[in-house]
Amino acid sequence: MKKKILVTGGLGFIGSHTVVCLHEAGFEPIIIDNLSNSLMSAMDGIQSLIGYKPTFINADVNDKIALSNLIESHKPEAIIHFAAFKAVGESVEKPLMYYHNNLGGLISVLEVMQQHNLSNLVFSSSCTVYGEPDTVPVSESTSTKPAQSPYGATKQMGEIILNDNASWCNTQCLRYFNPIGAHPTAALGELPLGVPNNLIPFLTQTVAGIRKELTIFGSDYETPDGTCIRDYIHVMDLAEAHVKAVERLLNKQQLESFEVFNIGTGNGFSVLEVIRSFEEENKIAVPHKIGPRRPGDVVKVWADTTKVENVLGWKAKRGLNEMMRDAWNWQLKLNQNT
Ligand code: WQD
Repeated sequence: MKKKILVTGGLGFIGSHTVVCLHEAGFEPIIIDNLSNSLMSAMDGIQSLIGYKPTFINADVNDKIALSNLIESHKPEAIIHFAAFKAVGESVEKPLMYYHNNLGGLISVLEVMQQHNLSNLVFSSSCTVYGEPDTVPVSESTSTKPAQSPYGATKQMGEIILNDNASWCNTQCLRYFNPIGAHPTAALGELPLGVPNNLIPFLTQTVAGIRKELTIFGSDYETPDGTCIRDYIHVMDLAEAHVKAVERLLNKQQLESFEVFNIGTGNGFSVLEVIRSFEEENKIAVPHKIGPRRPGDVVKVWADTTKVENVLGWKAKRGLNEMMRDAWNWQLKLNQNT
């Protein structure tokens, strides 16, 4: 009998790739998703990769009855909690929506877990908890800074809530850096609904002719080429880190009830370096111009991955060029379907 893992937001960008990796690692993924930021087409992509459609309910994690019935019927060994809103800019415009959904959702999951004596959780956190770090790379002991957006605040508060429940809930808290790319078969990828906020979907849509031009938000920063630096991580590497975290929980290997890991590559790349990598890998130009800075942008942040490599036994395997190749192949696939 395969061990079942409940994946909230399992039809989303990172969730759907993680569902595939869970299956490949011998687990049975179960999905709850309210389709607020995902499409059922992701289920077709999952099926094309693993040969079946996992158990799925179209529900909100704030619906405690639906969540409780799902856990009662399937008795998962752990939950990976992806279901949350994640657009930094949108969170500034709609803070209450973000606090209600992201914190309300987490509290709902925890309350139902407690009812069912389920105590294993993998939590999606973010490098945004570091704010603008004083030094880079950042390690897990780097102090967090006041959040620069309600989105970042929900991740910081989520970590506090989980820390405060460490007496009964074992948490693997994964701080993502910048997830990008797509499954190498292009069966799964990022489905930005509307105008993309993030660099890579905007870049690929520009090259595909959907957007007129990519604007680089500022080129006068204190960095070698003046543009901001980020730790871009392939979504497949990120998904594989979640499997490692689940295995650590189920094998009862964690050293503390609440464990934090930076899930990044340890390499920082500037916006201009990303554009060059895309053009070199895909042999196609990215129409772009320099524009004004975007308020709230961090100048540079990338991960110190010592802890995640030594303790979780995970290291990113895919480089920037591979991320650019897979991101473009996914955009070409999307173009075929329109
Ligand atoms: C990256 C760089 C922009 C768009 C993301 C997620 C957040 C969190 C952290 C997980 C910045 C520049 C962007 C454009 C540009 N992830 N840019 N032109 O802001 O680092 O945040 O990663 O929790 O959820 O949003 O990512 O892709 O928006 O920006 O020049 O059209 O690209 O200024 O330097 P960010 P991003």
